[in-house]
Amino acid sequence: MSPDIKRPFIVLLASHWLSMLGVALTTTAGFSWLFVLPMHLRGNADNPYIGILAFLIIPAVLFLGLALIPVGVLLARRQVVSGLAAIPDRRAAWRKIGVFLGLMTFVNLVIGSQATYRAVAHMETDQFCGQSCHVMKPEFTAWKHAPHSHVECVECHITPGAAGWFAAKMAGTRQLMNVALNTYKRPIEDAIETNRLVRSEETCEKCHARDKEIGSVMKVIPTFKDDEKNTRSETVLMLMVGGKAGGIHGAHMGPGVEIRYAPTDSKRGTIPWVEYKGADGKVSTYVDPSAKPGSVAGLPRYTMQCVDCHSRPAHTFQLPGRAVDAALAAGKLPANAPFFRKFAVELLTTSKDGTDIAPKVVAYYKEKAIPGDPAVTAAFLTNLYDSNVFPDLKVTWGTYSNNLGHTDAPGCFRCHDGSHERADKTAITNDCTTCHRMVAVDEASPEVLKTLGIDQ
Ligand code: HEC
Ligand code: HEC
Ligand code: HEC
Ligand code: HEC
Ligand code: HEC
Repeated sequence: MSPDIKRPFIVLLASHWLSMLGVALTTTAGFSWLFVLPMHLRGNADNPYIGILAFLIIPAVLFLGLALIPVGVLLARRQVVSGLAAIPDRRAAWRKIGVFLGLMTFVNLVIGSQATYRAVAHMETDQFCGQSCHVMKPEFTAWKHAPHSHVECVECHITPGAAGWFAAKMAGTRQLMNVALNTYKRPIEDAIETNRLVRSEETCEKCHARDKEIGSVMKVIPTFKDDEKNTRSETVLMLMVGGKAGGIHGAHMGPGVEIRYAPTDSKRGTIPWVEYKGADGKVSTYVDPSAKPGSVAGLPRYTMQCVDCHSRPAHTFQLPGRAVDAALAAGKLPANAPFFRKFAVELLTTSKDGTDIAPKVVAYYKEKAIPGDPAVTAAFLTNLYDSNVFPDLKVTWGTYSNNLGHTDAPGCFRCHDGSHERADKTAITNDCTTCHRMVAVDEASPEVLKTLGIDQ
């Protein structure tokens, strides 16, 4: 005869400590949810830590509690069946559970509300954020000044859907632990290196059509010499960005075109193997002959994406020379102050933490008897330094390089260096006029700018 019928669930539940613990955990989790969920929904949905609490930790407690209840019930049943424990009275069992639940509710309401509220309130403080989000300060600072400053972080970094959301919460938890234990990498790895970027179909291409015809884009790059006059010159390039039909975009992302490549390092800086599938379906493989035979076979392969060229769409860090040149051209720094270009670039490159910039600018103004307020120049240069160099995170000039080009980083020349060859010895093009027409190179005042009426 089965004892189950005479020993209802509720009686067994009350007679083992494990099932009672399960009830305790379940109610605690339930109450915590009641406190945390409204905070998550009410404007704090972006705070990953509230998310972690609401969707990982509390549910874990809930499920642990739910799992413990049947275990306790089974153990209680076994004890009763084997005669080890007395059969409790049904009425007494209900009373026990009633008192227990009442007590738990009271304790949960008093302590739980206070504790959860305090914990969540703490996560909102600058102190907490200042420490944890501080790791991302370089990216946050650069993003604020980027053309994508109105595009939210999650748009590029979190794959839409439940799986992406879960992966992000797990990564967030891991990052939180690294920050708490102070074990995060300095500088933190770039997102290409950790292979954690959302595919361009689900990000960039939601806003920019892959085959949009952009045509040619004129680029004027002013540079200044390190001489007394800060002599200015201009390089004018006509970049053939193209679109569906061809050009830079069409050659890599046009209809039917697919480029796969195998890098030897996680930053994808050295690429010995490239496979090109054209619109006609024909496949050619280009190999760097300096790569050891057989060394390419085991490398990971990636399909070319927007970020393989546009690696810094939201976090463009500058180089000191380029930043000073751009500011001189824009009139934000004094181009008539003798040797100013040389002075400014040296100052930015050698400063340890940015605090010595202002006094040195003041001294320079005095020494060279430059009219105007040194404070404005000092503030500009200090801000430039603070937006690009983060000494405690080991981020300095050039730590995060940009692959859109070939002068500051290998960029296009990782493949287009003229040495990646097919079996028939044709190489991926290195012709200077394929990607851009060089309308003027380092000219004092290029004719074309006069013609267009945009010379200075
Ligand atoms: C338009 C898309 C886009 C947006 C918006 C964006 N990012 Fe990024 N982010 C990238 C790309 C692309 C990389 C990888 C660059 C690389 O690996 O060279 C990256 C890299 C990073 C990295 C790794 C370190 C580094 O510099 O490579 C961090 C951290 C980061 N982003 C944080 C953020 C934060 C925080 C925000 C919001 C304030 C944000 N991102 C917004 C595209 C974006
Ligand atoms: C939510 C929409 C959105 C997403 C996602 C997005 N962009 Fe943009 N992007 C824009 C808008 C809007 C502009 C124009 C901004 C402006 O001119 O101020 C822009 C501008 C650009 C520009 C020109 C910037 C410049 O320097 O003038 C490039 C290049 C670009 N995006 C590439 C990308 C890439 C690569 C990605 C994916 C990593 C991406 N975008 C994701 C909306 C988006
Ligand atoms: C092979 C490298 C490469 C790839 C891949 C690539 N681009 Fe570009 N793209 C460029 C270059 C080079 C320019 C011109 C840059 C400049 O103006 O400084 C450019 C320009 C742009 C511009 C700005 C055009 C303007 O008006 O100034 C946008 C927007 C853009 N790309 C979006 C994308 C998107 C989205 C993808 C992915 C679907 C993509 N690109 C893939 C190289 C690439
Ligand atoms: C991962 C390797 C790789 C990178 C990086 C790369 N390309 Fe290419 N590119 C190719 C391959 C492969 C082809 C097709 C072979 C060819 O046409 O020589 C190609 C073709 C082209 C073409 C068409 C050439 C022609 O003869 O019509 C242009 C233009 C071009 N790339 C520009 C660029 C620019 C600009 C960059 C950097 C912003 C760049 N590529 C980065 C692999 C790459
Ligand atoms: C695969 C395409 C490609 C090839 C081949 C190529 N370039 Fe470029 N080049 C670019 C891109 C992209 C940029 C960056 C444009 C920008 O700043 O947005 C650039 C920029 C430049 C600049 C401006 C540098 C600066 O100060 O910013 C010069 C100069 C230049 N290229 C010269 C050359 C010469 C010389 C050759 C031939 C040996 C060559 N390029 C071959 C794609 C190419």
